[in-house]
Amino acid sequence: MTAKLILEGKEYDLPTLRGTENELAIDISKLRAQTGAVTYDPGYGNTGSCQSAITFIDGEAGILRYRGYPIEELAGKVPFTHVAYLLIHGELPNAEQAAAWSESLRGNSLVHEGLLNFFDHFPVTAHPMNILAGMISSMSSFYPADSTDDAHIQQNILRLIGQVKTLAAFSYKKSVGEPLIYPRNDLSYCANFLRMMFATPCGEYEVSKTMEDALDMLLVLHADHEQNCSTSTVRMVSSSEANIYASVSAGVNALWGPLHGGANQAVLEMLQRIEADSGDYKKYVEMAKDKNSGFRLMGFGHRVYKNFDPRAKLLKKAADAVLDELGVSDPLLDIAKSLEEVALNDSFFVERKLYPNVDFYSGVIYRALGIPTDMFTVLFSIGRMPGWIAHWMEMRNDPDGRIHRPRQIYTGATLRHP
Ligand code: CMC
Repeated sequence: MTAKLILEGKEYDLPTLRGTENELAIDISKLRAQTGAVTYDPGYGNTGSCQSAITFIDGEAGILRYRGYPIEELAGKVPFTHVAYLLIHGELPNAEQAAAWSESLRGNSLVHEGLLNFFDHFPVTAHPMNILAGMISSMSSFYPADSTDDAHIQQNILRLIGQVKTLAAFSYKKSVGEPLIYPRNDLSYCANFLRMMFATPCGEYEVSKTMEDALDMLLVLHADHEQNCSTSTVRMVSSSEANIYASVSAGVNALWGPLHGGANQAVLEMLQRIEADSGDYKKYVEMAKDKNSGFRLMGFGHRVYKNFDPRAKLLKKAADAVLDELGVSDPLLDIAKSLEEVALNDSFFVERKLYPNVDFYSGVIYRALGIPTDMFTVLFSIGRMPGWIAHWMEMRNDPDGRIHRPRQIYTGATLRHP
């Protein structure tokens, strides 16, 4: 099948291609050579930047699958580290592979001692996302980052997944002025992170199973989301053959923004603001509808999901269950639910197909786990790490891969002279 383009009276046949889920695309890779024209698609809402076999989303039907597995059959059912293996290696690990993978991740969870000095030079007010991006970027200097040897690449991957949680917990400990708690090899990925966050040398710390399981589920829900802003950034940077640490740290920076991963922090701050404002959530719904207010309902809307975000559905249920199990009652959860109900019945949100996204309820759960607000996006980064790595690998191994270099429509001054 071809698509016909008529441009300035001339006809062109453009090839098409279909994905395995029947998505149709027009191949415009020769468009400029054939016609002299480029396409214009601000925000890339209609642009397929690559072919990818990692994650499938059907935004109209609210479907999210990692390597073919529905998110509902992974979150809370398959451990995060196995999902990480799935994303990176394409298949869920068998028992032997899972044991070896977990062992390797544990063996790579210690941060290079030389890197630790860097923590001391950030001001105490530094945002932990800034610290995390800086630390991951700096890892390039400590390991054979530019090696093309497969053994080195695999080791760098293990280091990233193993160490990201350690770096995250250390950045928190530094911010509260407490001694660093090193990882322990007898604990699971999430139990290790919680212990490094909350234990002190002054006493024993028993990791709550409820907290460990809740965190694991949250990380699985964040593990990949095809060509979102941060993943596209990772792919963009890696297209220049930049090393994995340079590419992934760019992803951390992209995730930080409040329209992307930073929305989870922004949601909680919005809920706190509403609570301090006598809980008047209806006022905020009205503000979000007023384009002049500059205010958006954070945690609402999505470029791809136009029905519901399946992650938000799971998280809403989980928020109730986790708070209940931990015996936490949080007025912010009630405000979030009321806000959602009002917005979902308001024609402004209905017409624009704006629904709660993954960031709407995750913050309430993080808060119940005792995670400080400015660490929320760091948690998102820990979850997204396997996705970024899987995309970095896919880019690297793509025989059709080329450096990413979009065109533009120039609108500046025409030729003039000083
Ligand atoms: N509150 C109020 N109005 C909104 C919102 C919102 N949260 N989101 C979109 N709109 C309106 C927007 O004003 C526009 O209206 P109109 O057509 O009248 O001009 C329409 O809906 C379409 O919005 P858009 O900005 O063109 O949509 P987009 O696909 O470019 O942006 C988005 C998607 C997620 C950035 C946006 O919905 C948003 O800013 N949401 C709030 C931030 C947020 O929750 N981000 C997390 C995204 S999900 C997880 C992740 O990626 O990290």
